[in-house]
Amino acid sequence: MSIQQQVVETFKTQYQAEPTFLIRAPGRVNLIGEHTDYNDGFVMPLAIDRAVWMAVRARDDDQIMLKSLDFADPIQFSLSQMSKGTASPSEYVKGVAWALQDAGYALRGFEGVMKGDVPIGSGLSSSAALELATARTFAAVSGLAWDAPHMARLSQKAENQWVGVNCGIMDQMISAVGQAGYAVLIDCRSLATDTAPLPQGCYVVVLDTATRRGLVDSAYNERRQQCENAAAFFGVKALRDVTSATFEAQAHELDEVTRQRARHVITENERTLAAKNAMLAGDVQQLGALMNASHISLRDDFAVSSVALDAIVAAAWAHPACYGARMTGAGFGGCAVALVKSDAVHDFVQQVSTEYSQRTHYTPQVYVCQATDGATVVTS
Ligand code: GLA
Repeated sequence: MSIQQQVVETFKTQYQAEPTFLIRAPGRVNLIGEHTDYNDGFVMPLAIDRAVWMAVRARDDDQIMLKSLDFADPIQFSLSQMSKGTASPSEYVKGVAWALQDAGYALRGFEGVMKGDVPIGSGLSSSAALELATARTFAAVSGLAWDAPHMARLSQKAENQWVGVNCGIMDQMISAVGQAGYAVLIDCRSLATDTAPLPQGCYVVVLDTATRRGLVDSAYNERRQQCENAAAFFGVKALRDVTSATFEAQAHELDEVTRQRARHVITENERTLAAKNAMLAGDVQQLGALMNASHISLRDDFAVSSVALDAIVAAAWAHPACYGARMTGAGFGGCAVALVKSDAVHDFVQQVSTEYSQRTHYTPQVYVCQATDGATVVTS
């Protein structure tokens, strides 16, 4: 049974009625534009065919009652009496309720069933998927207009201020605005979006190293601080405002580490804009080359790769059907993304998995992805 059927069938058994709304919000993989979002820069992710689903109906009171098919404990709280609990799935739901109410929205309670298949903790944004599923559900049951970028901002606020994770806007935005068949170029300052068609004849393949590293949060916050220091040095609001020419002219005055961090962000923004043009031109070779350059920059200048990520990317690069590959997401573990010729994808998956396992003794997970729509009401 599909996840969609599972949540609907469980709802029917539990409530002896059809759900009023079926909501889907996807996870994501980022093709290019890494560690640029919190520098007001450009990213180009796609929403993937792994998502959080909710089958729900409105309640007449202000209670939220959500049975999860993934977690033992139901999500249960009152919209008028919310307090922070320990980090658990319910904190993401509560956080979104808090952010929406704080923005002045009048919310109705709801009840229903949820389940997801975005692997948790692997860097495919299972938390953003849960946040956007929650926001889309509140909008549906409360009769709110759906303004996708605004809802993404409020979901990010929930994660920053309620859950306490200092993420940028990329994950929530793509879960909100994704489009089937396309990657989406997002300007993380204005939240303007532009679609770029995925090249014909190739697949986006996610390679999960099966490694997770603690300390990601502190290393992430440290990178953010280094980027802010660099922006202050150049006298601008964010590194997005520094051109390569300005950087080249003044970079010698920066200390070595700050210079490297800034160089990554400035060149990555350029690569991301170039990648969109390559996609519009159908130039898959160029897109792949930009992805490879992104990995090298993340590894050498931004220092967020890992032995496992480098190993899986090297295994991908070694396969003749691979146009390009790079680490994706925050780094230090988690996933890489590769662009692979479709007729050889099976052989690619076999060879990369074998080679990576031999080199590292980890067993990777591999997902061949489809680009899907962002948060939607599937039926009503
Ligand atoms: C994590 C964050 C995003 C972004 C990436 C790095 O996924 O949640 O906001 O900063 O890292 O590009």
